[in-house]
Order: sequence, then structure tokens, then C-alpha cells
Amino acid sequence: MKNLIIIDHPLVKRDLTLLRNRKTPSHQFRAILRRTASLMAYEVSRDLRLKEIEIHTPLEKTTGVAVDQQIVLVPILRAGLGLVGGFVEVMPNARVGHIGLFRDEETLKPVDYYFKVPRNLNRALVLLLDPMLATGGSAAAAISFLKERGANTIRLVNLVSAPEGVRIVRKTHPDVVMYTCALDRELNNRGYILPGLGDAGDRMFGTE
Ligand code: PRP
Ligand code: URA
Repeated sequence: MKNLIIIDHPLVKRDLTLLRNRKTPSHQFRAILRRTASLMAYEVSRDLRLKEIEIHTPLEKTTGVAVDQQIVLVPILRAGLGLVGGFVEVMPNARVGHIGLFRDEETLKPVDYYFKVPRNLNRALVLLLDPMLATGGSAAAAISFLKERGANTIRLVNLVSAPEGVRIVRKTHPDVVMYTCALDRELNNRGYILPGLGDAGDRMFGTE
């Protein structure tokens, strides 16, 4: 599907099942989400730019590679925080911004309350992290904020996506490639993804 890459690695599928299970308690949910995030990070960075560097092994000189691209991770608060640990584990030089948004329960429209991102976004690969893409309102708003700050290469990284959200992001930001581990069936009348995994923020922090 245009602009949508499904990460369907067997280990990701196994972890997603654990995350969907309502019996999985918060402490396990956080640990599994972090592990899944590292697996997702491999897929999202598959085409990362590299440069050759010269190094010395204990035996001789040889050439190796270093990452030649700035990476900025931007979790959408709160639930996006659950993906940061797994990403920085494999991208230790990444800088991290934060966008605070929550969905109004009645209107389902995003309400913004915090925005702090590193400078020079225009030179970076910006990975916008949020486990859930439901109506797409939060992601579309976050992408607009990032573009206003100069970001021009943005990838949206979700764990579970609804078709409705994919359509909105594709329409409002056709330049943004979306990565997800599952394209679920639909939204219910309260804007929750079916089958989904519930409210990701509540499941992470035990605030249900
Ligand atoms: C969740 C989720 C996304 C948003 C998705 O956050 O983490 O940010 O909903 O919904 P949308 O695609 O319809 O905008 P929520 O608003 O529940 O905030 P929280 O993470 O602080 O609980
Ligand atoms: N936000 C969530 O955390 N879960 C959903 O199913 C929809 C929005």
C-alpha cells in the first residue's frame, strides 16, 4: 500500500500478540513494547546513509562504516515514550524531541500541550513515534508542527494502525512514509482501534 510499510517480522508478531492480550500487566507491557521498538528500529532504519571510515583492528588497518545521517526521535506523549528506549538502544546518537498531545474524548480532536524539539530538523531523519494511529488526528497535527520547525524527512512509526488514520496521514502528508506492525480492521464509535490493544498510555502507565 502506498506510503505504508508493514513490519511483519515473526518476533514482532509474537510481541504484538502479547501486547494485545488484556491479561498482560503494565510492567510486562512496558518491557515488551521496548523490545518491540528495537525490532521496529531495524526496519525503519534499513536504508540509513553510511560513510566509510578507516579503523585499526588489533591486527591491521581496515575500513568500516559509520552512520552518516542525523536521527531525531520524537515521541508523542504519553504513549510514544514507550518506544523511545528501544530506539535509542540501537540508535545511541539520536537526539530526542517531545510533542505533548492528547485526544479530546468527545471530539476525538488532538489537544496540544507541549512541544520541544532539537534545532536543525531540516538536516535530520525525523522518526515520529506513537504506538497508536487511530483517527490520525494526533499524527497529522504532530507532523504539521514538525514541518513548521523545518523537518522535511519524516517517518511515522506506529505499532497498530487503523485504516482511517492511514488514509488521513496519506492525504494530509503524502510525503511521509508510515511504518506499522499491524493494519487493524477499523475504529469503534469511541475512536478505539479494533481489535487493537486498548488505550496504550493507560496500559503502559496503569492509569485505566
Ligand atoms: C493516543 C495515542 C495517540 C492517539 C491516537 O494518545 O497514543 O497519540 O491516541 O489517536 P488519534 O489517531 O485518533 O489521534 P492519547 O490521546 O490517548 O493520549 P495519552 O497517550 O496521553 O494517553
Ligand atoms: N489511542 C489508543 O491508545 N488506543 C486506541 O485504540 C485509539 C487511540
